[in-house]
Amino acid sequence: MHQIPFLDLKAMNLSLETELQRAFTDVLHSGWFILGKNVAAFEEEYAKFSGTAHAIGVANGLDALHIALKVLGVGAGDEVIVPSNTYIATMLASSFVGATPVPVEPRAATYNINPELIEAAITPRTKVIMPVHLYGQASEMDAIMAIAEKHGLYVIEDNAQSQGAFYNGRPTGSFGHINGTSFYPGKNLGALGDAGAMTTNNAEYDKSARSWRNYGSHKKYYNEVLGFNSRLDELQAALLLTKLPSLYNDNAERERIAALYTELLQGVGDVITPVVADNATSVFHLYVIRSKKRDALQEYLTQNGIGTMIHYPVPPHLQEAYSDKGWKQGQFPLAEEIAQTCLSLPIFPGLTDGQVERVVEVIKAFFAQKG
Ligand SMILES: Cc1ncc(COP(=O)(O)O)c(C=O)c1O
Repeated sequence: MHQIPFLDLKAMNLSLETELQRAFTDVLHSGWFILGKNVAAFEEEYAKFSGTAHAIGVANGLDALHIALKVLGVGAGDEVIVPSNTYIATMLASSFVGATPVPVEPRAATYNINPELIEAAITPRTKVIMPVHLYGQASEMDAIMAIAEKHGLYVIEDNAQSQGAFYNGRPTGSFGHINGTSFYPGKNLGALGDAGAMTTNNAEYDKSARSWRNYGSHKKYYNEVLGFNSRLDELQAALLLTKLPSLYNDNAERERIAALYTELLQGVGDVITPVVADNATSVFHLYVIRSKKRDALQEYLTQNGIGTMIHYPVPPHLQEAYSDKGWKQGQFPLAEEIAQTCLSLPIFPGLTDGQVERVVEVIKAFFAQKG
């Protein structure tokens, strides 16, 4: 066990133990487990939180992106612009509908897709731009929406890592035509299992998404499309409903921890600390530093009882799963450099200032020894 864990999910959830147990008991006693009052209530609250007219609960974040593409009619022969620097789920969603993901490099400072490079990647086949608010920071949504409008494209935000972030005062997950998020347990709003949601302001998309998640059906045993079974269940919805009010405070705590790391890590070795762009906020789902000595630094932190992770060691274009695409090493050099140098430090609500100081002390000791 690390003295300072990368993430303490147990403590985070136990801080609401009584409330979560009550939610579980209520569902148990209701005798109703799929698409009931808890899902409806959570959808209403999550839509409010996201600043959208609708939220549609689904089984996980990957399904949310997959169904969003289905709702917009994206399929074989279409292209979807995605960041080269992301978790593979962003690209898998496009692959599942038979479309081709087209990676575009990020900005070196923010790690989010570089809007200046998007237009060069647009072809007559392009249907969608799918920005990811990576590590918790909002992408440059005004520029992305303007490009989409100019070229008649849809936008689907991958909001899995950034519930509660803003761009120009507007919440992530409220810009795109229909957007996906994840409530995987480690996310800023985490279920006690898998869960996800779509958000949209469009009533037609809302209706369609509700059908796609439920066997392509609005009326039991009448099916309009070849839909999925991807429903958020009552239990996860009740637990998420219980946790949602804490998300503002939890995000504020993450931001405070991040600010302390950034202050204490200035000038330490070759460490690059995260940069939040003008007009954007970050909810610091992850606090990601970069160093050319990343592997040795991670090893040293491990030896000193500090948990870290790498998000992500191999960019999607170099994954074996995508070998058929013929993408080459060096084709998306920024994504590759980030993969080789990034290191995620412990960050979660409940991490103390003393623990942050200890992590920084160990990083300083590493560079004092290794230069
Ligand atoms: C950027 C991004 N997109 C999509 C997903 C998919 O979410 P899930 O794991 O709930 O399917 C995740 C999380 O795993 C993610 O980090």
